[in-house]
Amino acid sequence: MNTLSKFQTYMTGRKAFLPLSLVLSAISAIAGMTPYILIWFIIREFIQVGTSSQTSINTYAWWAAGFAIASVLIYFFALSLSHLAAFRVETNMRRHAMKKIVHMPLGFFDNNTSGRIRKIIDDNASITHSFLAHQLPDLAATVVMPITAAILIFVFDWRLGLVCLVPVVLSMSIMSTMMGGKGKKFMKMYMDSLEEMNTEAVEYVRGIPVVKVFQQTVFSFKKFHNSIIKYKEMVSGYTKMWRLPMSAYTVIINGFAFFLVPVAILLIGNTGNYAMVILNLFLYILITPVFSLSIMKSMYMNQAFGQAKEAIDRLENLTSTEQLPESVNFQRIKGHDISFKNVSFSYPGANKKAVNNVSFEIQQGKTVALVGTSGGGKTTIARLIPRFWDVCEGGVFIGGVNVKDTEHKDLMEHISFVFQNTRLFKTTLLENIKYGNHEATLEEVTRAVDLAQCREIIDRLPNGLNTKIGTEGTYLSGGEQQRIALARAFLKNAPIVVLDEATAFTDPENEHLIQQALKKLAEGKTVLMIAHRLTSVADADKILVVNEGKIAEQGNHNELLKKKGIYTKMWNEYQKSVQWTIGKEVCHV
Ligand SMILES: Nc1ncnc2c1ncn2[C@@H]1O[C@H](COP(=O)(O)OP(=O)(O)OP(=O)(O)O)[C@@H](O)[C@H]1O
Ligand SMILES: [Mg+2]
Repeated sequence: MNTLSKFQTYMTGRKAFLPLSLVLSAISAIAGMTPYILIWFIIREFIQVGTSSQTSINTYAWWAAGFAIASVLIYFFALSLSHLAAFRVETNMRRHAMKKIVHMPLGFFDNNTSGRIRKIIDDNASITHSFLAHQLPDLAATVVMPITAAILIFVFDWRLGLVCLVPVVLSMSIMSTMMGGKGKKFMKMYMDSLEEMNTEAVEYVRGIPVVKVFQQTVFSFKKFHNSIIKYKEMVSGYTKMWRLPMSAYTVIINGFAFFLVPVAILLIGNTGNYAMVILNLFLYILITPVFSLSIMKSMYMNQAFGQAKEAIDRLENLTSTEQLPESVNFQRIKGHDISFKNVSFSYPGANKKAVNNVSFEIQQGKTVALVGTSGGGKTTIARLIPRFWDVCEGGVFIGGVNVKDTEHKDLMEHISFVFQNTRLFKTTLLENIKYGNHEATLEEVTRAVDLAQCREIIDRLPNGLNTKIGTEGTYLSGGEQQRIALARAFLKNAPIVVLDEATAFTDPENEHLIQQALKKLAEGKTVLMIAHRLTSVADADKILVVNEGKIAEQGNHNELLKKKGIYTKMWNEYQKSVQWTIGKEVCHV
C-alpha cells in the first residue's frame, strides 16, 4: 500500500477532504497566475494607442484584482480542508496506536519504555500533520503551476517558449543527477551520521553522572567527539561535491533573461514589431520564476514524502507486536492452585530459552519460593502466570484452567503482582495505593497501609496520604516503594500473590518490615515469591532453585541443605555475607 492510501485509511468520515483540498489548491494556483496575463492585456491596450479604451483597461484591472482575491480565498478553503483532514488522521493515528498498545502483552512494556512509546507516537503524528495539512496542498500547486506556465509560454510566443525550455531542461537534469544515484547514497549516509551524532549526544548527557564519578571525562567524550568529526566530514564532503553543480543550477535557473534577451533582440530584428516582442518578454520574465520555484519545491517535496512514509512505518512497527490471542470460550477461574507443566519460553528474537521445560505445582494456600543466580529466569517464570508473555511450549494452569483460556479481566482479578522494580505514579500516595482497588474506602486504605508496614512512611510525609510522589522533592526509596506496592496488593486482596523481591534495597530496617508485611499478605493465599535474601525463604513450603532456565533443585529449606548442592552453596555464601556485615558493625562499635 502506498503512503497516501495508508493515510486515507485513517481518514474516517473525511475521505473526500484531502482530494478536494488538492483540487482547490491547484485552482488557487492557476487563479494566482491569471493576473499576470491580465497585466499583459492591459499593457497591450497601452501599446496599441488609438484602439485602446479606458473601459476595457478598467475591466481587465478589476478581473485581475478579482482573480488575486479569489486565489487567496480558495487557498484558504483548501488549507482549511487539509487541516481538518490532517487533524482527523492525527487523532485516528494516536487513537489507533493507543488502542493497540492497551492490548499489547504486558511484556511489550519491558522493551518499550513509556518515554519511547510517547516519543514515537508524538513525533510521527506531528510529522504526519504538517505533511497533510501544509505540504500536500502545496504539492498540488507545485505540479499545476509549471504545467500552466509551460502552456502559457507556448501560447504567447512559441519561439520564446522554446528558449525558456533550455534552462528548465538543463536545471532539471542537474537536479536529477544530484538527487539520484550518488546523491541518494550520500543522503542516506548523511542521515545515518546525523542519527549517530544525536544518539551519542544523548548517551553522553545521560552518562554524565557516571562519567563524573569515575573521572572518565576524556574517554567518554571521545565517542561523541568522533561522531561529530564524522558528521563534519560527511557534510563538508557533501557540500564540496555539489559546489559546482549547485552553482551551475542556481545560475541557470535564475538566468532566464540571459537566454531570452538575445532571442528577443533577434525577433525584433525579424518582425519589426518591437513593442509586442518587448511586451511578451516582460510577461516571460514575470512567469518564468515559477519554474525555478517549482523545481526547488519539488526537491523538498521528495524529502517530505520520505519523512511521511517513515513516520507511518515507524508507528506501524511500534504496534506490530502480536496481541495475545483471547480465547472465545472463556473458562472461569475457580481454584487457586498453580501448576506449570513442561513450560518452555524464549523472548522474541532471543536464541536461548529463558525458561526450559519447567514443571512445578503450588497448592492452594501454600508459598513457593524461587531462588537462584541472577539471570536464571525467575522473573520470567513469575511473569508467565499473569500472561506478560505466552509460553512457547507446555502450559500454565490456575485451578486447572490454562491461563490462555481465561478472560483477561478474570485473570487479573485473581492475581496481585508486586514487581521487582515497582513504579509509583506521579500522583498522591492515596491514589497510588487505590490502584489496588478503586472502590476502597479510606478506612480500608488505612488498614492496608498498616498491614504493609507503611504507617511510618506516611506519617513522615507533609501531607500524609495526600502527598504527591515525584514532585517537590518527595521521593521514596526503593524499599519504601515496594512497601507501598505491598499496600496496593493488600487492598486488592487477590487470592494469588506473585512477588518479585527487589534486589537492590537491602537495608535491614526495610528488609525486616517487608518480611513482616509479606508474612501477613501470604496468610491463606497462594504465593509465588522470588527471593534474593535467603532469610525470606526459610519458611516457604517449597523452594525451587532456578538455574539457566531450569529447576536445578527443589525441596524445603532443611531438605535442600541436606542435598549439599547449589542451595547449600548459596546458603553458605549468604551466611558469610551476613556475618561479614555484623563483623563490620562490631568493628565500628
Ligand atoms: N524483556 C526481555 N527481553 C529479552 N530477554 C530478556 C528480557 N527479560 C529477561 N531476559 C533474559 O532472560 C533471562 C532470564 O531473565 P530473568 O529476568 O527472568 O532472570 P532473573 O532470574 O529474574 O534474574 P535476577 O535475579 O537478576 O532478577 C536472562 O538471560 C535475561 O537476559
Ligand atoms: Mg528477576
